[in-house]
Amino acid sequence: MFNFILYKNTNKEGIPIQNSKYLEFLSKFGVGGAHPGGINLTKEIFKAESIGKNTRILDVGCGTGQTAAYLGVEYEAKVTGIDINPEMVAKAKRRMKKNRLPVKIMQCSIEQVPLRDDTFDFIISESVLSFVNKPNALKEIFRLLKNGGRLIAIEFTIHQPLDENIEKEILQFYGFDSCSMKKDWVALFKQAGFNNIRIQKNKSIFSIPELHYSKDIAPELYEIMDKHFAMNLQYEGILDYRIYSCTK
Ligand SMILES: C[S@@+](CC[C@H](N)C(=O)[O-])C[C@H]1O[C@@H](n2cnc3c(N)ncnc32)[C@H](O)[C@@H]1O
Repeated sequence: MFNFILYKNTNKEGIPIQNSKYLEFLSKFGVGGAHPGGINLTKEIFKAESIGKNTRILDVGCGTGQTAAYLGVEYEAKVTGIDINPEMVAKAKRRMKKNRLPVKIMQCSIEQVPLRDDTFDFIISESVLSFVNKPNALKEIFRLLKNGGRLIAIEFTIHQPLDENIEKEILQFYGFDSCSMKKDWVALFKQAGFNNIRIQKNKSIFSIPELHYSKDIAPELYEIMDKHFAMNLQYEGILDYRIYSCTK
């Protein structure tokens, strides 16, 4: 059996890294589009928004930068991506360099972002907020948005309180900070000061995630990948998500 210990760590700059074997698997395999619905859902969501060259967008927990790159190419928007994981940051930077995209990628935690208040028109969080302290992250997102700016978040959502053992297994395996129901998310958004909260569900969109292998992938991480797929089958309907949007 695996030893799914969730541990908090800091990198050499003293930036806290909330680590989990699942996140390690994503970063070592360089999984792009590591959120439900993947890049096709992202494309669908942004179709409905008004975005142009002067729109400032922050992708929090940008991973390998697939969404940030898409927004830079498709809309020529002014995009910044942040991620706490140095390996993700390196892969995202490589993607922008390779594609000659002026997307800025920074390593930092969403709980403490070294950027000015009222900077962004949109902030997107694709499967990130469950890994962090939600009130801290939402406070920071609210601070970074311009007045009238919007948060769009594709996030893990449970539909009823979970059996204690199932909740423990999910929290430990993914390294989530907590499991939230729709009403919990709404309360968190309201508490951070957001209004105009909308919730959508889109089950029919699917994308094949990108993989960028590194040479040094430990066999244990292949087991984590298998376990992730097994958990998705076992907990179908429990490991669910919703698309939230709300305005500052
Ligand atoms: C499930 S992945 C999603 C990555 C990306 N949004 C995507 O859809 O492909 C979660 C990401 O959140 C990042 N992350 C976790 N905690 C973070 C934090 N406190 N601040 C910023 N990023 C964080 C992880 O490093 C990882 O890249």
